Amino acid sequence: MKTSTDFPPEVSAGAHRPDAEPRHPTARASASTRETTDRLVRSAYAGWRQGPETGDAGSVTDDDAPSVTGPPPGVRTTRRRGRTSAAKTAVLDQLGPAWTLPAAGPWDAAALDAGFGQGGPLRVDIGVGSGEATRAWAVEAPEARVLAIELHRPGLAKLLGALEADGPANVRVVEADALGVLEQLDPGSVAALRLLFPDPWPKRRHVERRMVDRAFVGLAARVLEPGGQLHLATDWADYAEHMRTMVATEPRLARVLDAGRPARPVTTYERRGLELGRTITDLVYRLDA
Ligand SMILES: C[S@@+](CC[C@H](N)C(=O)[O-])C[C@H]1O[C@@H](n2cnc3c(N)ncnc32)[C@H](O)[C@@H]1O
Repeated sequence: MKTSTDFPPEVSAGAHRPDAEPRHPTARASASTRETTDRLVRSAYAGWRQGPETGDAGSVTDDDAPSVTGPPPGVRTTRRRGRTSAAKTAVLDQLGPAWTLPAAGPWDAAALDAGFGQGGPLRVDIGVGSGEATRAWAVEAPEARVLAIELHRPGLAKLLGALEADGPANVRVVEADALGVLEQLDPGSVAALRLLFPDPWPKRRHVERRMVDRAFVGLAARVLEPGGQLHLATDWADYAEHMRTMVATEPRLARVLDAGRPARPVTTYERRGLELGRTITDLVYRLDA
């Protein structure tokens, strides 16, 4: 897995969000709620230190704190092509019809039943890379359906090849911006939502590009069923802190795990972090009814 600095993501002008409107009801909170939460988030960020690349220089000022309504349009990764070889393009063309669902949806229960060819609890895995952990997640629960969302085409080609060779059959893949999919999923339709090692965006001026912000947390709380779980992981200590701060703005998400590690394979990106001596943080939350 390459890092965000190896292949800078294409940053579009909010492809799924052409205007500056908040994307989720959470983000449409009253002005006073927004101000209170803004203060909370900003105080959590006061004194937060983040280096341009290594985390050892510079400090984030109030102006660098993430905003309550999420990043302004144009700073999100919404489309990433990657350099896709002819061979990988052929894999995507050949195997796509069997394993992928259309990026535009629909994402209602009937469409998911048809797309998976089976019912069962829905697990959503975001930014799966080449999907080794996704496949393990699906093997562990054959009764569940695992929806893998990824934008990086070479990773998708690898995942489709592995699915075609070894399954499991209860995975479907979508090449789309995960936030756009979350916005369209039915409320309370997801049993588990997972985001393992999202792009860290370590430079302080890029903090607002991080996938986990208040709007993401609001979307997660909307799509999870009561008792459903949100699992986040990162190898960047400041991103782990950022995740805790953001999730804390949603009182319905109760922390289940903040130390230790749930059963899951080491991912490609995580392996690189471990080689660099980074500490891995897994955070698991449960949606209370
Ligand atoms: C740092 S990599 C981690 C990949 C994998 N989870 C792992 O641990 O090896 C982050 C992945 O998230 C994907 N990604 C970033 N923004 C996304 C978005 N808006 N929707 C879907 N995937 C996204 C990237 O393409 C990339 O493959």
